[in-house]
Amino acid sequence: MKEDYSKISPTAVFCARMRAKQDIPFAKEIVELIDTKFKDSVEDLPDYGDTLTSKSDFIPFIEGRYYSLNDALKNMKNVFILELASGLSPRSLNFLKKDVIYLDTDLKNLIEVKKKIFQEIIKKSNLDRSNLFFMEANPLEEKDIDSVGLFYQNQRENKQLIVIHEGLLMYFNREEKKKFMENIKKLFEKYAPNGLLMTTDLSRTTKKENSKKGQENIRDKIATAIKNDFDYFDSEEEAKQFVSECGFKLEILANKKVIEELIAKKGLEKNKVQILETAKEYRVWKIRLA
Ligand SMILES: C[S@@+](CC[C@H](N)C(=O)[O-])C[C@H]1O[C@@H](n2cnc3c(N)ncnc32)[C@H](O)[C@@H]1O
Repeated sequence: MKEDYSKISPTAVFCARMRAKQDIPFAKEIVELIDTKFKDSVEDLPDYGDTLTSKSDFIPFIEGRYYSLNDALKNMKNVFILELASGLSPRSLNFLKKDVIYLDTDLKNLIEVKKKIFQEIIKKSNLDRSNLFFMEANPLEEKDIDSVGLFYQNQRENKQLIVIHEGLLMYFNREEKKKFMENIKKLFEKYAPNGLLMTTDLSRTTKKENSKKGQENIRDKIATAIKNDFDYFDSEEEAKQFVSECGFKLEILANKKVIEELIAKKGLEKNKVQILETAKEYRVWKIRLA
C-alpha cells in the first residue's frame, strides 16, 4: 500500500504556531486564519503539552532554522526557488521580489489551504503576487518531480533553480531519503544541471540515550500523534557519506552570524554558547550534482 504522507501534515500547524510566537513577518496572520476561517480545513496536533506557553531563554529550533535558511537565500539574485513541503511557512511571502520566482509546494490538501490563506493575506496587505505560484508536489513521486521540472522549464527566464526545504527528511526512513535524493538528481540532470538543493535537515543526528533533550522537545508527542518515527543519521559523517553516495557534492554553511544577531535582538547573551551549539543542528547544507 502507498504511504499516506498527509498524516505528517499536522506538523505544519505545529511549525506555524511556533513561528507565530516569534516576531516573524506574516506568521501571526497565518495562525489567526488557521484558527478562524480555515479551522475546519487543517488538521492540528492533538497535544502541544506546554510547548506553546513556555518562556524559553533559547532560540526555538523552528525559528533558528527558518532564519538560517533565509540567510542562505538572502543574497541570491535572479533565482527560481522551489520550496518542497513548505507547510504553512511564510517564507514565500517574505521573498516576493522582482527577480525571484517562487514555487511553493506541499501535499494536495495542505497546499490548497495555504493558497487560500495566502490569497487573503496578499489581498489585505496589498502585495504583488505575480511571481508566486502554488503546486501540489510529493518529491518521492517521479511524476511530481517532472511536473515541477516542466514548470521550471517554462517559467525560468534563465533563473538558477534553488530547491529548498526544512523539516522534511527526518520524517522519511532511509529508503525514502534515498528516493528523495534520486529524484532531486533526476530533476537536476533533466531540467537544471546547475541547480542547488539547500536543506536544514541533515545536521541533526540521533541523540544518544543519555543526552539532554532540546528546550522545545515535543518530538515524542509528535511521533505518537502522527504515527511516524523520526529518522536521523547517527553522525554528520554518515550523512555526508549518504549525500556523496547519492551522486552529489556538498558544503555546510555556517549560521553563527545570523544566530548571533538573533541572540542580540532577543537579549539572550547569557545562553549564547549553548544556543550556538544547538544552532549547529539546523545549519544549511548546500548540495549540487558531483
Ligand atoms: C514539519 S512540517 C514542515 C513544514 C514547513 N517546511 C515548515 O517549516 O513550517 C512537514 C511538512 O512536510 C509535508 N510532507 C510530508 N511528507 C511529504 C511528502 N511526501 N511530500 C511533500 N510534502 C510532505 C507535510 O505536509 C508538512 O507540511
